[in-house]
Amino acid sequence: MKMVSLKTLALAAAVFLFFTAPHAAQAQKTDCLACHGDTTMQDAAGHNVGVPADTFHSSIHGSLECSNCHTTIKDYPHPDQVTPVQCDTCHADEAAGLTGSVHKDGKEHPCTSCHGDAHTIFPKSDPKSAVYPLNVPKTCGACHGNDAMAKKHGLNNVYPLYLDSIHGFALSKEGLLVAANCQSCHGSHHILSHKDPESATNKVNVPKTCGSCHAGITADYEAGVHGKAVAAGHLGAPVCSDCHTAHAILQPTEAEFRSQSTPICGSCHKDKFSTYRDTFHSQLGALGGYVETARCWDCHGAHEILPASDPRSPVAPANLIKTCGRCHAGANASFVKYQPHANARNRKLNPALYFVRLFMNLLLAGTLGFFMIHTILWLIRARYDQIKKKSAQGAKNV
Ligand code: HEC
Ligand code: HEC
Ligand code: HEC
Ligand code: HEC
Ligand code: HEC
Ligand code: HEC
Ligand code: HEC
Ligand code: HEC
Ligand code: HEC
Ligand code: HEC
Ligand code: HEC
Repeated sequence: MKMVSLKTLALAAAVFLFFTAPHAAQAQKTDCLACHGDTTMQDAAGHNVGVPADTFHSSIHGSLECSNCHTTIKDYPHPDQVTPVQCDTCHADEAAGLTGSVHKDGKEHPCTSCHGDAHTIFPKSDPKSAVYPLNVPKTCGACHGNDAMAKKHGLNNVYPLYLDSIHGFALSKEGLLVAANCQSCHGSHHILSHKDPESATNKVNVPKTCGSCHAGITADYEAGVHGKAVAAGHLGAPVCSDCHTAHAILQPTEAEFRSQSTPICGSCHKDKFSTYRDTFHSQLGALGGYVETARCWDCHGAHEILPASDPRSPVAPANLIKTCGRCHAGANASFVKYQPHANARNRKLNPALYFVRLFMNLLLAGTLGFFMIHTILWLIRARYDQIKKKSAQGAKNV
């Protein structure tokens, strides 16, 4: 039934076109829409070939003729061979950007995989656009929120992580246009793997990428030991995403961040972490996530971290009263003698602790040694008594 009505419709329209536009060189879009404007229209195979006329007219391409894109279809009946639409004939820059990017081999229609249906494309500033800032994560997430796809390509499934992050929350819940979306960090067309040194997400480039918005913090970071080390090519030092992650960024005042991040500094500074762990502050933090206790950055700062020998460092001797005083009202010179990294194994740095530890160890060894010798002597004595008793019994039995 359906096919008959389609064919009749097609024929009627062709006849109509033939008589109403005898001088036109080719069909206008209104002519094409006379048939395709029926959004339920299907071809012989059952594929939808309808075009929503109103939306098309209001789209960015609404002023184009259909044949500007469908270059081989000028009229009806259509040719047997229809060439696929080439967006790059008009958008050479974007197409060039895709070349060599991670998505180059992605899809038959790489443009529409991000821009959505070809007939309903809107400028990026329009909330209806698939690449409007607030819509970008969902657009990328259509693929990057798919577990099977992530596994197949050996990638992390980042979309759910992003949605729960401070950026994802600000964007999806608060509609904050300036919050970072995927495009802010990765770019749109020339997206490269973070392993590529040219990539905006390559370790060396991360501070600049985050710094396009967080300019003040990035300047602090660059003035600190870590920033200087990275700039000098020492990649063992951290960039923003080593401490904050890239997609699961938390608000740093949250308990979850404060309790997680001590191990984060500690994953590189293993020695300082182990001494910190022996101290009151850390023990307190371990007791049911006491978030007010001092974490590494409460004493060292988070971004402009400096060596203790630098007089500007918050842990330089002259600044300790102020640094500790933030939490310990009335901290004085004797209070700050307390050593947050006291290491009982180091005689030169912590002589008192060293000798206390040595004494305790000697005491322990001495006690153990005494009882060990005592036990051995006791065993010998017991055996000797046993043999003596046996030989005395033997003499009696003879
Ligand atoms: C008389 C009705 C009619 C008119 C007018 C018409 N089409 Fe079609 N078109 C169809 C039908 C029916 C199909 C389904 C496939 C087929 O039978 O060729 C179709 C299919 C198509 C396809 C899909 C082709 C494919 O194989 O993927 C495109 C693209 C298309 N038309 C574009 C146009 C354009 C552009 C115009 C105006 C220049 C136009 N049509 C005018 C009826 C029409
Ligand atoms: C900006 C370019 C562009 C314009 C303008 C355009 N199309 Fe398309 N059209 C496409 C793309 C891309 C496809 C997907 C198939 C392909 O790549 O050939 C498509 C597919 C189609 C199809 C096949 C059904 C489908 O959705 O896959 C029809 C029918 C069609 N267009 C009709 C029209 C008509 C009628 C007009 C004018 C009112 C029009 N198109 C204007 C780009 C365009
Ligand atoms: C991986 C997803 C993706 C693919 C694939 C993609 N784009 Fe884009 N495109 C975007 C995003 C995201 C933006 C918004 C960029 C911005 O906000 O600056 C955009 C913006 C654009 C713009 C507006 C540029 C400007 O600066 O105003 C054009 C035009 C465009 N894309 C065309 C294309 C064409 C043509 C193709 C295929 C050759 C394509 N895009 C493929 C994601 C994509
Ligand atoms: C015949 C030329 C032509 C073709 C083919 C074409 N476009 Fe366009 N496109 C334009 C024009 C003209 C504009 C409007 C530019 C403007 O207003 O700045 C535009 C605008 C756009 C924009 C909005 C840019 C912005 O300001 O955000 C996007 C996205 C876009 N095109 C994507 C595509 C995609 C995807 C295809 C292929 C399906 C395509 N275009 C095919 C001519 C074309
Ligand atoms: C149509 C599905 C699809 C869409 C939409 C898509 N991607 Fe991808 N993306 C892929 C696939 C598939 C790969 C893996 C390519 C490969 O490894 O060959 C990939 C790879 C990547 C990589 C590289 C990962 C790595 O380090 O190797 C990044 C980054 C990326 N995409 C970001 C984005 C962003 C940002 C967007 C949105 C603007 C987006 N993608 C939209 C399918 C998609
Ligand atoms: C705040 C910046 C930022 C935002 C926003 C962001 N990314 Fe990333 N992305 C990165 C960085 C940096 C990397 C490099 C690897 C790392 O540090 O984890 C990365 C890595 C990736 C990878 C490769 C992951 C892997 O398997 O190693 C993909 C895919 C990706 N991002 C996609 C996306 C998508 C999709 C979005 C949006 C939903 C997004 N990114 C949002 C910064 C960002
Ligand atoms: C496009 C701009 C932009 C980029 C790029 C960006 N951010 Fe943000 N970021 C924001 C905005 C805006 C907020 C504030 C969100 C809010 O408060 O709701 C924010 C919030 C944050 C917060 C929480 C701050 C607080 O006080 O709660 C952290 C941490 C953060 N970003 C880290 C990063 C890191 C790390 C990168 C790079 C991997 C990055 N950002 C890239 C815009 C950006
Ligand atoms: C060595 C780990 C580390 C590095 C590297 C790092 N951060 Fe932070 N960042 C932190 C910690 C810890 C906090 C929490 C500070 C606090 O609560 O006092 C923080 C706080 C923030 C905040 C919230 C505002 C504030 O000052 O409390 C933002 C935004 C931020 N970082 C962005 C960045 C950016 C952008 C970079 C890279 C240029 C970066 N961070 C590098 C550890 C780091
Ligand atoms: C990815 C590993 C890494 C992480 C994470 C890290 N650091 Fe560092 N840190 C380094 C490296 C490497 C250096 C030496 C930099 C150089 O070459 O001067 C350094 C230097 C320092 C120094 C100066 C030490 C000295 O002897 O000059 C301090 C203090 C410091 N880091 C504190 C922190 C704090 C606090 C955190 C967490 C907020 C942290 N670090 C996180 C790797 C790391
Ligand atoms: C209560 C304050 C406080 C806390 C918490 C703290 N530190 Fe320290 N840190 C200091 C002081 C004071 C010094 C300088 C004296 C010393 O070396 O013991 C120092 C020294 C250091 C140094 C050597 C700096 C240099 O220039 O020699 C590193 C590295 C360091 N701390 C890392 C950490 C890490 C990592 C953490 C968390 C696991 C942490 N600190 C927690 C106060 C603190
Ligand atoms: C971010 C806040 C904070 C900072 C900064 C801080 N502390 Fe503490 N500290 C605490 C909290 C909370 C406790 C446990 C509550 C208490 O006993 O006052 C504590 C307990 C202590 C204790 C054991 C209990 C006591 O009060 O005698 C000592 C000693 C101590 N801190 C020394 C220091 C020194 C020295 C510094 C500076 C190098 C410092 N703290 C920096 C929060 C901090």
